Amino acid sequence: MMRILLTGANGQLGWELQRSLSTLGSVIGVDLPEYDLAQPDRLLELVRQVRPQVIVNPAAYTDVDKAEQEHDLAHTVNGVAPGLLAQQANEIGAAIIHYSTDYVFNGSLGRPYSENDQPAPLNAYGRSKLVGEQAVQQVGDAFLILRTSWVYSLRGNSFVNKVLRWSRSHRTLRIVNDQVSNPTWARALAEATGQLLAQAGSQPAGWIRERRGLYHLAAPDWTSRFEWAQAILSLDPHREQQVVQEVLPASSAEFPTPAVRPAFSALDCSLFSKTFDLQLPHWRDALRLSLTV
Ligand SMILES: NC(=O)c1ccc[n+]([C@@H]2O[C@H](COP(=O)([O-])OP(=O)(O)OC[C@H]3O[C@@H](n4cnc5c(N)ncnc54)[C@H](OP(=O)(O)O)[C@@H]3O)[C@@H](O)[C@H]2O)c1
Repeated sequence: MMRILLTGANGQLGWELQRSLSTLGSVIGVDLPEYDLAQPDRLLELVRQVRPQVIVNPAAYTDVDKAEQEHDLAHTVNGVAPGLLAQQANEIGAAIIHYSTDYVFNGSLGRPYSENDQPAPLNAYGRSKLVGEQAVQQVGDAFLILRTSWVYSLRGNSFVNKVLRWSRSHRTLRIVNDQVSNPTWARALAEATGQLLAQAGSQPAGWIRERRGLYHLAAPDWTSRFEWAQAILSLDPHREQQVVQEVLPASSAEFPTPAVRPAFSALDCSLFSKTFDLQLPHWRDALRLSLTV
């Protein structure tokens, strides 16, 4: 049975991980305010006490716009803390699974990004996450970095929940069609993480060390926010509550935000599929499942 320490246990992904990983052994889930990655001493002490075999770290400063102002905090949480966790994992012979983002790319490549493509973040959040990747890689022991994209869950303030909410209050929705990536259901990502760890068996650190590295893991295929919103509306099981009558494409320039987003940041996930013989369901299938309660 595996002992797993899970950060960000109340977040979109962390909440699902707490459930998906529970069949593997004991999951110790922690989150703010008790365990703060900005002041990680207490968390590192917990790691030494609990001696998990795996640390799973979905905790992150994820407010992309606010990070433009709070870049120091984002850097500490997303950039520095993952390296300290990786170091602590290394010292006790544990593995670490860390999550990163498509926002490390600038979105101008014009095809899905592979792991070999050069990151060039456009915003403070992306820069902080890139520093975190590098910090985990530098420790370089038993680590997996899973770069994902457009994570949503039906809990929390996800794009899916926002569109459902707007559809009940607005007759016309204007949604950007110049941002393209892979909408990824937090539950599917958590399940894939659990199945990966199940393959690792009772000595996960050794197994992960042999396959260590950075992998892209998001739902195939890519789509625009505009098309994603249309799918949300048509798959909504309570469509009778919608007052929305039209959904119009818009450009990002019409909705200025503090942080610039990449235009085309879809991820090529073939390395992950080949290595672990796992893939996430198509984004549309996952969306249908996520909306069925
Ligand atoms: N959401 C996306 O679209 C997306 C896309 C690509 C990659 N990712 C990555 O995927 C991972 C999971 O994202 P998510 O959507 O599940 O994020 P989320 O819902 O915002 O969850 C993050 C969790 O981390 C916690 N947290 C924030 N600051 C912390 C700190 N200083 N110390 C300890 N915990 C802290 C949050 O607590 P509070 O809620 O109390 O702040 C929350 O429980 C992250 O690594 C993120 O960068 C996300």
